Amino acid sequence: MNNRVCNTPIIREMMPSDVASIILIEREIFLFPWSPMNFLDSINTGYQCKILEQDNIFLGYGVMMIGVEEAHILTIGIAAKCQNQGFGKKLLNYFIQFAKEQNSKSMILDVRESNLGAAKLYQQVGFKQIAIRKDYYPAMCGREDALVMQLML
Ligand SMILES: CC(C)(COP(=O)(O)OP(=O)(O)OC[C@H]1O[C@@H](n2cnc3c(N)ncnc32)[C@H](O)[C@@H]1OP(=O)(O)O)[C@@H](O)C(=O)NCCC(=O)NCCS
Repeated sequence: MNNRVCNTPIIREMMPSDVASIILIEREIFLFPWSPMNFLDSINTGYQCKILEQDNIFLGYGVMMIGVEEAHILTIGIAAKCQNQGFGKKLLNYFIQFAKEQNSKSMILDVRESNLGAAKLYQQVGFKQIAIRKDYYPAMCGREDALVMQLML
């Protein structure tokens, strides 16, 4: 008999003590990862910094800034071995619900033009491309455009 208990994934506050584990995932999934200080600053600034975990194992994380009537997703990442199982969508939907409860009118994010998987997820939940930021991101060969995507809440 299999006695392994798999509890439902939970979303909780990110703590400074989580950052070392987050960075391991971050470096695995992003070519240009955030630094530990980027996450610590986000926590200290009071951004919505969340961890998605299951049975104390990190599945992913995200950071959202709530501005005047507009929420910005600053980063979202799911550990490589946990991708394509619905966890990114779960975390994104959590942020969308949270932003609605804060009376945000819209949500904005930037995504690399080449990041088709992420853009597909955003389109699936209703984001529309509203602009392009030319040469916004560093890339292996020069710079890369960002697609600016918006969801009306
Ligand atoms: C982008 C990311 C957050 C998506 O999370 P995920 O858990 O892998 O995605 P989900 O399983 O929730 O996928 C939801 C939908 O997104 C789309 N999608 C996600 N990853 C995709 C991929 N690699 N290729 C194509 N479509 C993809 C699919 O439409 C999927 O819906 P479906 O399963 O009904 O087809 C995750 O893959 C990730 O962390 N990638 C690396 C970091 C990154 O790019 N972050 C976003 C920066 S803007």
